Amino acid sequence: MSGSETPLLEIDDLRVQYKRKRLFGASTVLTAVDGVSLSLQRGKTLGLVGESGCGKSTLMRSLFGLTPIVSGSIKVMGEDVTGSGRRARRRLSSRMQMVFQDPYSALDPRMTVHEIVAEPLRLAGRYRAQEVTDLLDRVGVTAEMARRKPSEFSGGQRQRVGIARALALSPDILILDEPVSALDVSIQAQVLNLLADLQQSLQLTYLFVSHDLSVIRHIADDVAVMYRGRIVEEGTSERVFAHPADAYTRSLLAAIPAMGPSEARRRRATAAESEPSPGSAAPEA
Ligand SMILES: Nc1ncnc2c1ncn2[C@@H]1O[C@H](COP(=O)(O)OP(=O)(O)OP(=O)(O)O)[C@@H](O)[C@H]1O
Ligand SMILES: [Mg+2]
Repeated sequence: MSGSETPLLEIDDLRVQYKRKRLFGASTVLTAVDGVSLSLQRGKTLGLVGESGCGKSTLMRSLFGLTPIVSGSIKVMGEDVTGSGRRARRRLSSRMQMVFQDPYSALDPRMTVHEIVAEPLRLAGRYRAQEVTDLLDRVGVTAEMARRKPSEFSGGQRQRVGIARALALSPDILILDEPVSALDVSIQAQVLNLLADLQQSLQLTYLFVSHDLSVIRHIADDVAVMYRGRIVEEGTSERVFAHPADAYTRSLLAAIPAMGPSEARRRRATAAESEPSPGSAAPEA
């Protein structure tokens, strides 16, 4: 953490548990987020990385009151919003917005792209057509394209629409949950560059979730590594990538490609088989 400024987003010792009913007998409890503390500084990107099922999405959804939080707290710009009600959530929506992995399922297929981006503005009672056009222009979608349905768009274009919609209420923070994971590598780079440009011009703060370390390395100032519901390592990107302290981080880094992402995926799968536990000695890469 740097500076004495109040963090834009502050998560303190957050714990989230899902109850699972068994057919017979008692229900079991899964602690999906297990005592996580993180903070976001204005204008910076915190990358959150970790394997599938480690609790990344649960943590992100918790920020919007969408999961069963059992303890801990979430503060946005100093205001406690832990599990807050609908009213507070609406107020929150002008400060913090989510961008999802799969833009197609997040966008209503019956609406035009213009309508999709207009919707949050309409709900807030401040729709102006020109503002929607400007938002879409920012992300590289023309007014002509905006008259079409998302089904006519490519994956990368749909993610641009998802980003424009998230920006509609001028939030300070974007929570991005695997925003480029469904895209081809060349398109990933374009969307990452767009996000970097938007961050610069709009002074945005990002919490960027990915299971892909090469993406995180590209975009994040700071990195937090999550493993089985806990943060096992945190630091500047530079430090974590150059000198990972935790065994699990080292095993993730060992799987980073010099080659393409599919090779990395294969190597990750192999690394996962050895199931390193946080804090233990580094596994064989
Ligand atoms: N609504 C839910 N009810 C019960 N268990 C859940 C629910 N959502 C997630 N889980 C469980 O919580 C754990 C964390 O899941 P989560 O989706 O947060 O992981 P993730 O890190 O986002 O994974 P991925 O990289 O695959 O998106 C998993 O074991 C998952 O099965
Ligand atoms: Mg997820």
